[in-house]
Amino acid sequence: MRAGGRQGGCAPLPEDQAEIPAHRANGPAASRIIVATAPITANRPQNRNGANMTSDNLKTPTIALGTWAWGDSGETGNGYFGSPLTRAGLEEIADKAHAAGFTLWDTAIVYGMGRSETVLGEVLKRYARSDYQLSTKFNPRIAGPGDDPVGDMLEQSLTNLGTDYIDLYWIHNPADVARWTPHLIPLLKSGKVRHVGVSNHNLSEIKLADQILGEAGFRVEAVQNHYSLLYRSSEHAGILDHCRNQGISFFAYMVLEQGALTGKYSLENPLPQGSSRAKTYNGMLPQLKALTDKLTAIGQSQDAAAPDVATAWAIAKGTTPIIGVTKPRYIDGLVRASSITLTSDDIAELEALADAANVNTRGFWEQEM
Ligand SMILES: NC(=O)c1ccc[n+]([C@@H]2O[C@H](COP(=O)([O-])OP(=O)(O)OC[C@H]3O[C@@H](n4cnc5c(N)ncnc54)[C@H](OP(=O)(O)O)[C@@H]3O)[C@@H](O)[C@H]2O)c1
Repeated sequence: MRAGGRQGGCAPLPEDQAEIPAHRANGPAASRIIVATAPITANRPQNRNGANMTSDNLKTPTIALGTWAWGDSGETGNGYFGSPLTRAGLEEIADKAHAAGFTLWDTAIVYGMGRSETVLGEVLKRYARSDYQLSTKFNPRIAGPGDDPVGDMLEQSLTNLGTDYIDLYWIHNPADVARWTPHLIPLLKSGKVRHVGVSNHNLSEIKLADQILGEAGFRVEAVQNHYSLLYRSSEHAGILDHCRNQGISFFAYMVLEQGALTGKYSLENPLPQGSSRAKTYNGMLPQLKALTDKLTAIGQSQDAAAPDVATAWAIAKGTTPIIGVTKPRYIDGLVRASSITLTSDDIAELEALADAANVNTRGFWEQEM
């Protein structure tokens, strides 16, 4: 039994709330992961109608960079993460990430209600647009009343990010798949959106979205769901298998459970007081200790740290982890994670300890899969 679950369903949220949305499997990762060596957008094939086909062309990196916490930056911040972030610090993160070859940035219009997108766009101005990839999201929960709420929200994201196209555009939650998915088609045809994915969708919703796009010659190319040692619902529901079988990239978010799986937080050193993540995780930290100790022990044998091993676990499961990067040194961890080898015994032991922790980290915006 899993206990102590986070609030499910679609509770009303503060306006500034970051995650408004109700919003492969095992084996060596190297054989399945294509490291992006060129912009995601290169050489897109076309379908019979001359529309930009998105199949067989999404280049998925080993690790993507998450910027939800960047919504906390600026004078006001929204306090979800409670991490004080400075512009200079974020620029240093970007420089280290790019030097190490990590160039796919994930954000969403609702992260800090535009602040994450805006600061990310400003920080990335130092690079040529072709040197990085942007992943952001349409959120049905804040759709406007106009004729084309998806196109309107995309325009706002383009403005926030200071760009004229998005490499990977997501529907952030499955509020109404049949209603919202068709709106992606003209955006794909126009080239403002190069590839599309769905987030927080269950298996039947993924299939429905794929069918709708398929009728126009496009497809769901990526799925983005909560997936960590503590939260494997997408695996249990067959979504990882489906993605592997269909050639869909699975992006795993909250692989580190917002810091709770890094081993650095404890009763003595809790997550930042007053932050939303502290409310979720501080109470369960004692139950996570055996797991984080094991992550640390495996890391020590490979000159790595606990979060690197948690990230390596997600890679070994055939997913692309999106890791929230709030400090420059975390990029070093991503480099280490990319080269960690986990045995099947390591994986089994980590998963057993995770199950024994008996916690439920489902986000309030997430549905049961
Ligand atoms: N589609 C969706 O609905 C959805 C939902 C959630 C997240 N996401 C995406 O997934 C990304 C990742 O999720 P997340 O940022 O919520 O959580 P996460 O990646 O599980 O955890 C990020 C936190 O872990 C800590 N951390 C990261 N690397 C570390 C390292 N090497 N050593 C020590 N601590 C480290 C940092 O905490 P400190 O700041 O305290 O150091 C950081 O804020 C998001 O940024 C977002 O892009 C998508």
